Amino acid sequence: MANETVRRKRILSGIQPTGTFTLGNYIGAVRNWAKLQDEFDCLYMVADLHALTVRQVPADLRKNTREAAAMLLAAGIDPKQSILFVQSHVPAHTQLGWIATCNSQFGELSRMTQFKDKSAKHPDNVNGGLFTYPSLMAADILVYNADLVPVGQDQTQHLELARTIAQRFNSSYSPTFTMPEGYITKAGAKVMSLAEPTRKMSKSDPNVNSFILMTDDKDAILRKFKRAVTDCDGIVRYDVAEKPGVSNLMTIYSVFTGKDYDAITAEFEGKGYGDFKIAVGEAVADGLAPIQGEYKRILADKAYVDAVLAEGAQGASRIADRMVQKVYKKVGLLQL
Ligand code: TYM
Repeated sequence: MANETVRRKRILSGIQPTGTFTLGNYIGAVRNWAKLQDEFDCLYMVADLHALTVRQVPADLRKNTREAAAMLLAAGIDPKQSILFVQSHVPAHTQLGWIATCNSQFGELSRMTQFKDKSAKHPDNVNGGLFTYPSLMAADILVYNADLVPVGQDQTQHLELARTIAQRFNSSYSPTFTMPEGYITKAGAKVMSLAEPTRKMSKSDPNVNSFILMTDDKDAILRKFKRAVTDCDGIVRYDVAEKPGVSNLMTIYSVFTGKDYDAITAEFEGKGYGDFKIAVGEAVADGLAPIQGEYKRILADKAYVDAVLAEGAQGASRIADRMVQKVYKKVGLLQL
């Protein structure tokens, strides 16, 4: 049709406000979110309801939520281009979440590795929300009919469940949900701990030297990289199986300098790990400095951050509420 406009693909992603973001969050997810804004219609959310699956100090959660939004803005999310909002400000997520939960199987939820990990980590609080977390995450995605979901590798199992739920619903009722695809970058989809490079870098790691925070100053960044665990053969070469520590540092260096692995190997040929680690630290510190400056500036203007979030909630609700109505009707909930 002559006047038919082609809908741009839609993107949805989220991040939990459980503390300051790590370099893993940035490289695996947030950095890509900013880049996708020109090409896609993007919705980005601070997933505060998901954070409640682990006990939170209320005042800290509030503070972390605003800080998370400020950090996303500092990292390049442009509220004129994208919809930035807080999950709990859009009730449609929990409304569709219940429908998604009723379309998830106990066995499927039991197999989720994040559930198993977090249950082991918090044995005194294995709550129902932790178990049904992935069905709420599915609702986050499906309520916008998102085509693409940019996440790190650790979210692929959840994403797969979102697809299963979408498929199940579409075939039980009628075609309703778009099948979401993961958007996972080749390099940096899993940034590893600096202390134990066979484990994921995570802000909940008790060893503060294992992760870089987005707010770490240059001294802290350099110190942590100097301490990073490597190996004893002294050659900067990419080999995840044999040299996980060095390979992880190479990935980080590559992301911040744009150099490929061969170029990095050549650059440090004949030099020790000492020089290499300093170079990685410098590149990261220099790369994060402008974001940190922006973050401070934006966070100082709480009214601005809150106004962005209020507008974001409205924009997101406009899309999501319609989907909830459609789904409620399809499943047979009485409409008055
Ligand atoms: P969260 O808050 O744990 O992490 C946010 C994003 O950062 C990625 N990430 C990493 N990437 C590479 N290396 C790492 N070490 C690393 N650590 C974290 C995560 O993969 C994620 O993309 N369940 C989600 C939040 C969420 C969500 C959603 C995401 C809620 N609803 C809907 C997408 C769509 C989570 O806990 O991410």
